[in-house]
Amino acid sequence: MPSSDPQNISARPQLTAEIMAQTGLDEEKLTRLVHRFYDKVRADAVLGPVFATRITDWGPHLERMVAFWSSVALMTGRYHGAPVPAHVGLPVEWTHFERWLVLFRETAAETCPPEGAAHVIERAERIARSLHMAVEDAKPRTIPSLL
Ligand code: HEM
Repeated sequence: MPSSDPQNISARPQLTAEIMAQTGLDEEKLTRLVHRFYDKVRADAVLGPVFATRITDWGPHLERMVAFWSSVALMTGRYHGAPVPAHVGLPVEWTHFERWLVLFRETAAETCPPEGAAHVIERAERIARSLHMAVEDAKPRTIPSLL
């Protein structure tokens, strides 16, 4: 069971404790959110195949994603990674990100109190937009002819 004591999990325990109090979130709820969310992603007709080609060992991915959400939602500083290169080159359009967000919003509502769900959804929407922009920028372009 993950610890939910800000002193144990956060580089900024006081800030993390304040966010936990405001949102009702903790490591346990984020762990449930992440695991349930990726169960849905893996079973999803649109997203499942994209993940299946890249992830075979789900244990480390889920651990990384809990650390990511701990950093993003609780400001713990637990995630040290680079999300942009992980997505550049994936065969995805905005419709994939929209589907990702539908499943994320649904799972956040199931696993978090309302303030906590709003907190993570707002951040997921912002990050999805910026990842989508990075993915689009990296796609090779054919310049339409003016003739
Ligand atoms: C179209 C929607 C998305 C797809 C298909 C997708 C797919 C993937 C895949 C396949 C990986 C593993 C890459 C690898 O290890 O080779 C990954 C990693 C990751 N994704 Fe996504 N993703 C999507 C949206 C998002 C969004 C919206 C977020 C954040 C809100 C996110 C956060 C991350 C993070 C933090 C990692 C780990 C990067 C690392 O440290 O290696 N993804 N994603």
